[in-house]
Amino acid sequence: MSTNSLVARAPAKINLALHVGPTRADGFHELATVYQAVDVYDEVRATRRDDGRVSVQTLDRAGVAPVVGVGDDVHHLAVRAAQTLRRRCDVRSGADLQVRKDIPVAAGLAGGSADAAATLVACNALWELGLDGRALLDVAAGIGSDVPFALVGATALGTGRGERVEPLVEVARSTWVLVTSSPGLSTPAVYARADAMRAGQTQPAPRVADELLAAVRSGDAGRLAAGLHNDLQPAAIELRPGLADVLAAGAAAGATAGLISGSGPTVLLLVRDDSHAAAVAATVAPVARAALGEAALRTAHGPVPGAALVSDAPQGQLPGH
Ligand code: C5P
Repeated sequence: MSTNSLVARAPAKINLALHVGPTRADGFHELATVYQAVDVYDEVRATRRDDGRVSVQTLDRAGVAPVVGVGDDVHHLAVRAAQTLRRRCDVRSGADLQVRKDIPVAAGLAGGSADAAATLVACNALWELGLDGRALLDVAAGIGSDVPFALVGATALGTGRGERVEPLVEVARSTWVLVTSSPGLSTPAVYARADAMRAGQTQPAPRVADELLAAVRSGDAGRLAAGLHNDLQPAAIELRPGLADVLAAGAAAGATAGLISGSGPTVLLLVRDDSHAAAVAATVAPVARAALGEAALRTAHGPVPGAALVSDAPQGQLPGH
């Protein structure tokens, strides 16, 4: 039986390593990255429309207050995902999309990409398109560099502009204190600053350190500390100097390691477990608020699976049934 409304969710990502190579002819940078999906999710409800239009409403996690800064109907990545899928599959129907955001906006956590990935999964089912994982990955790559990873989740090596993903097998769970803050940082602005800081240097082809890959594959989260790396970190710190204070506070508070996620401004502090997270967060919180103004700290765990349908609780039915 076809259904009129489905919900999918997709996780935030962090980068255990982000190596930024030269700028390509298309303006993107060649990357070598290790993505990890963590248990902070955006949820997208897609409801069928018969007039072929796609609309979006973006609300906070509770589904109450509107969220600003996510782009209007045209620029919202969820809308782009639905429209791309419609065109690709000649779909007549449209969809009303309701996004419930728990992933902070412009945080370096790929929240917009999560919205796009959840939309692809929801609309593929809503419109009964039957696209398999490979076909969805292909659509995802056209929407944004991080969207394919939001579909596959877990831990993966990313190459190209980040859109080519290759799952990595590992067994350890990692625990993080995420220090999020607003305002966010613009990804293009951070890349541009990184380019300016490296002007005149020849960039080698980016490569993830063997040490990190070995640490990931060892399943020992503690070993990750030695391999964590982000080429965008100096640029993010130059644009938001308070981030350096938060990283220093994390180290002083006994975090196993710390780095900036993606283009920032989220700071990731690697910790041993939830009680270590609570202790580190208690010490770092006042420093983060003094250095960054609006900051929030939460514990997150990785890896978790990528975008997937979730049961449609309000209507008491399971998706696809
Ligand atoms: O692919 P996405 O739309 O997420 O990229 C956002 C921006 O981030 C790009 O417009 C570009 O400025 C920068 N970027 C880049 N190289 C990449 C990925 C992103 O320069 N590999």
